[in-house]
Amino acid sequence: MNHKEDRAFVRQFSGVIAAFVVLTIVLIFVARAMQPETEGDESMLDARVEQRIAPVGAVRAGEAGAEALAEAQAAIDTGLAAEEVVIDGPGVYNGLCAACHESGAAGAPIRGSEQMAARFDEKGLEMLVSNAINSLNAMPARGANPALTDEQIQAAVEYMLQ
Ligand code: HEC
Repeated sequence: MNHKEDRAFVRQFSGVIAAFVVLTIVLIFVARAMQPETEGDESMLDARVEQRIAPVGAVRAGEAGAEALAEAQAAIDTGLAAEEVVIDGPGVYNGLCAACHESGAAGAPIRGSEQMAARFDEKGLEMLVSNAINSLNAMPARGANPALTDEQIQAAVEYMLQ
């Protein structure tokens, strides 16, 4: 290798290096242009993450919690007030009492039977209703549905006497 060839090599090699440097700079700018704008989106991302990691049933504590609970209670109260209790003797009887009182299971007096009439003659309506509410031997209190009101039980007993 002589001196002339060396110089030619150095020139070529520097040309290649220079080309790579230019290419690198170009690529840096291209990459910058392609990068999405993240700055504005960051708060939105945070909000989304917060939403995803929030507890399913947020704990109701402090003033905000007390307010939320009061609101829920008010909604329940108005809902209950709006729901009138329907007094439907045959409905209550057929839905619950009939299970025992149609068949006479465990000695239950059958609806409209002589035995039912005899109990009525002996005890009177008030006593029959009171026993149906409070239970009597195998007869469960309120037919085992404590949600039934006294009026509903009375209506069912009256239907049993028909
Ligand atoms: C699990 C069965 C069963 C169900 C359900 C049931 N009863 Fe009875 N009931 C009885 C039995 C048993 C007797 C008889 C109890 C006795 O005299 O020893 C009875 C007795 C009665 C009597 C007569 C009480 C008396 O003083 O002689 C009435 C009234 C009565 N039931 C009403 C009802 C009504 C109203 C319902 C529905 C809300 C109902 N029962 C649901 C089993 C049942």
